[in-house]
Amino acid sequence: MTDSALNPRFPAGFLWGAATSAYQVEGAVAEDGRTPSIWDTFCRTPGKVFQDHTGDLATDHYHRFRADVRLMAGLGLTAYRFSVAWPRVQPTGRGPAVQRGLDFYRRLADELLAAGITPVATLYHWDLPQELEAAGGWPERATAERFAEYAALVGDALGDRVGQWTTLNEPWCSAFLGYGSGVHAPGRTDPVAALRAAHHLNLGHGLAVRALRSALPAGTRVSVSLNLHAVRPLTPSAADREAVRRIDAVGNRVFLGPMLEGAYPEDLLDDTAHLTDWSFVRPGDPEAAHQPLDWLGVNYYTPTVVSATPEGAAPAREDGHGGGPSPWPGADAVGFHQAAGERTAMGWAVDPSGLHELLTGLARRHPGLPLMVTENGAAYRDEVRPDGTVDDPERAAYVRAHLAAVHRSLADGADVRGYFLWSLLDNFEWAYGYDKRFGLVRVDYDTQARTPKSSAHWYGRVARTGELHPVGEQGTRPGARLTIKP
Ligand code: FCB
Repeated sequence: MTDSALNPRFPAGFLWGAATSAYQVEGAVAEDGRTPSIWDTFCRTPGKVFQDHTGDLATDHYHRFRADVRLMAGLGLTAYRFSVAWPRVQPTGRGPAVQRGLDFYRRLADELLAAGITPVATLYHWDLPQELEAAGGWPERATAERFAEYAALVGDALGDRVGQWTTLNEPWCSAFLGYGSGVHAPGRTDPVAALRAAHHLNLGHGLAVRALRSALPAGTRVSVSLNLHAVRPLTPSAADREAVRRIDAVGNRVFLGPMLEGAYPEDLLDDTAHLTDWSFVRPGDPEAAHQPLDWLGVNYYTPTVVSATPEGAAPAREDGHGGGPSPWPGADAVGFHQAAGERTAMGWAVDPSGLHELLTGLARRHPGLPLMVTENGAAYRDEVRPDGTVDDPERAAYVRAHLAAVHRSLADGADVRGYFLWSLLDNFEWAYGYDKRFGLVRVDYDTQARTPKSSAHWYGRVARTGELHPVGEQGTRPGARLTIKP
């Protein structure tokens, strides 16, 4: 027993969610008119994804969403962040919507609402229709325009059911891992294409916000989810602090500038002047990217430690594979280092202070802008016990420590409205395939059986009570109670 007066308590109405994305969980890649996205193509390019895994079946969420919603309801979650697959709704990336594709998301939203779970829809979580990549992809302006048309179609179809929206998930990854380092789809390695992509993602976001606002009922909340980097200098030297400035520019302010302030940071333009004159930015574009937002989504996993020189540092890659082209245009001299401390199975250091730093920093710079943690979580090497259960106290401890950082941020003035754990289910972890498990719920990929891990029981209790209980307390141990058989 613990004295619950000692547990940090969250405000009433705080959203307790879990997140997934379409390609990582849905499967059904060739059903009901869906066409290939850049991730279907990338997975079929040998050597790009761990053991050439694909999202063809993933967790079969497309067919099992009802059971997955029951699972969330059973745990006591109050929100679910999912993404809409563009190639399921608008297979060529142009023209009219496919009703069957939209119907899936309508049914999903209805099921969530009936279970008392707030649906939060992300329009783009990296699955660009392949046809749009063939036409040039995000480095081309037309893709931003197509994105706004797609946003209007989805807004029209789901606006009566979905009250919370985010346009893009982590445009940094789309631009710089997709077109810079090439470790994500479409796998291009061209720093100028990456900067062009970043701009057209900014523009696409702004145009999509406008399109959504005209399609959605008044009162609907619209936002974007950014993977902001908590950047720290390896040493206090002026040179290492200059490396921080550079990475903050091309990692954070490249999106925060246009989206929240209507301008690109001057220092970013200078840092990259040897690569491009940025003439792809037309007059009025940064202002178009700058649309009022109802909240800002922050995704955070681990801090980024940098130095002025690459000596003794890891290659400038975030994904842990090492080697290869950099995802950081204009920052070739910067070195990247492992932050101190315990690591997850991704090799990412566990450091919740980065989340506090980001949330309180945003609150200072943008007072009045509500915030939402739209992703946070950890992969660990889960072990299945003979009775089929998984005890993962390290995942619960990771989440608890980060929720404590959110709680501190609230006390320090950040208006944080909710937290979405990545992820509801073990799923397709991009270039790592099914090798890395982030789920609150174990998925047996042979049978598709779902079993909540002990972290799910713990998190459910936190969601039901609004209190940050210690990990491993009674009532949060794994049980077969909620196992959903295939
Ligand atoms: C984020 C992605 C999400 C998942 C987590 C681990 O960058 O948005 O899809 O892969 O990392």
